[in-house]
Amino acid sequence: MNPVKAGLLGLGTVGGGTVNVLRRNAQEIARRAGRGIIVTHASARDLNKPRICDTEGIRLTTDPAEVVEDPEIAIVVELIGGETLARDLVLRAIANGKHVVTANKALIAKHGNEIFAAAQEKGVMVAFEAAVAGGIPIIKAIREGLAGNRIEWLAGIINGTGNFILTEMRDKGRDFAEVLAEAQRLGYAEADPTFDVEGIDAAHKLTILAAIAFGIPLQFDEVYTEGIGRVSGTDVGYAGQLGYRIKHLGIARHTGSGVELRVHPTLIPERRLIANVDGVMNAVLVQGDAVGPTLYYGAGAGADPTASAVVADLVDVVRALTSDPENRVPHLAFQPDALVDLPILPIEQVETAYYLRMRAADRPGVLAEVTRILGDEGISIEAMLQKEPPAEEEGATIIMLTQRVVEANMDRAIGQIQGLDSILSDVIRIRVESLG
Ligand code: HSE
Repeated sequence: MNPVKAGLLGLGTVGGGTVNVLRRNAQEIARRAGRGIIVTHASARDLNKPRICDTEGIRLTTDPAEVVEDPEIAIVVELIGGETLARDLVLRAIANGKHVVTANKALIAKHGNEIFAAAQEKGVMVAFEAAVAGGIPIIKAIREGLAGNRIEWLAGIINGTGNFILTEMRDKGRDFAEVLAEAQRLGYAEADPTFDVEGIDAAHKLTILAAIAFGIPLQFDEVYTEGIGRVSGTDVGYAGQLGYRIKHLGIARHTGSGVELRVHPTLIPERRLIANVDGVMNAVLVQGDAVGPTLYYGAGAGADPTASAVVADLVDVVRALTSDPENRVPHLAFQPDALVDLPILPIEQVETAYYLRMRAADRPGVLAEVTRILGDEGISIEAMLQKEPPAEEEGATIIMLTQRVVEANMDRAIGQIQGLDSILSDVIRIRVESLG
């Protein structure tokens, strides 16, 4: 049988990696897919730029629309990133009856509902394994491998840049800005690193994971997102003394009253496997009612790891080319007419434990004032440390771990604690999850 022809939009790191993997593993891929898969047409912004792949035999253009309009192309692989042009090109490819593979998390998180509806109408597939956690086959695992479960919650380290920064801060006491600059040099960080640091990249990925885990529409705007910019070396150190690590987690939880969707720095017990996922590596912990906890670990970025996911999607699409559209795995794991628009809980209604740090005047009764406020809000203290503050500061540093409480109660308690004359600093708060 003739090979299937694919067209690439973008020939950068992931595009180059995809060409390389398709060439290097051509025989294995054909044995799996039942047909060869070749790239015959590709677009790149600058044709003179040095490439990581051999482009011999590939028609090159600077105009991505040419690829999308090429009648010989059966599958368009979108790797240009961004939202506006990528959305237009993907919708055009679908309108032209082409299947689409994309690594674009922002595109799927923000425009996926529209794109999947268009694809369903046209009877084409849109595959997006590479959009979440790079080479880890987490979409396939949740969508197919865990299809017998009611997913209760998931928690993921889904931004390698953020994890690299937090790991370096903990292990080497390095400064935030210096580590970020290194992540950019090494090519982990997004073109705009605020997407990594402020949690937007992780929120895109969490939106996708939550949709396929719970059968809800994609709702990027509903994700509560907090970055790692305010995590200090001081808190990384105290967390360690209490037996915890600070990780930037994306958490989705199905509760009795709705769905929690949140990205924020989180203390997790250091004995958990996921607490030991370091550097740029990614991991996703998924709790299903039947299987219990399952953990998926691997490279979340990079040319070959991301190409691994792109090529797996190409193989899936080629295998399903002749199948009836109704018999394919649904884009969001659940049949489109079975998606349920569950309420997304505002962060004030989320229940979690807390790490608190504050500086207090060193005099009798101060702790009693703080614990009375916490007690009045129904907040129970789990552990406490008192430390000498740095030489130039007066008072005592108090660090507390609390039991689980609704965030609105903690907000009120912190407001009152900060109003005390005896509290000399803002109260630093970081959420704590046991992930048990
Ligand atoms: N900037 C992303 C990360 C790359 O650091 O994980 C993969 O999405």
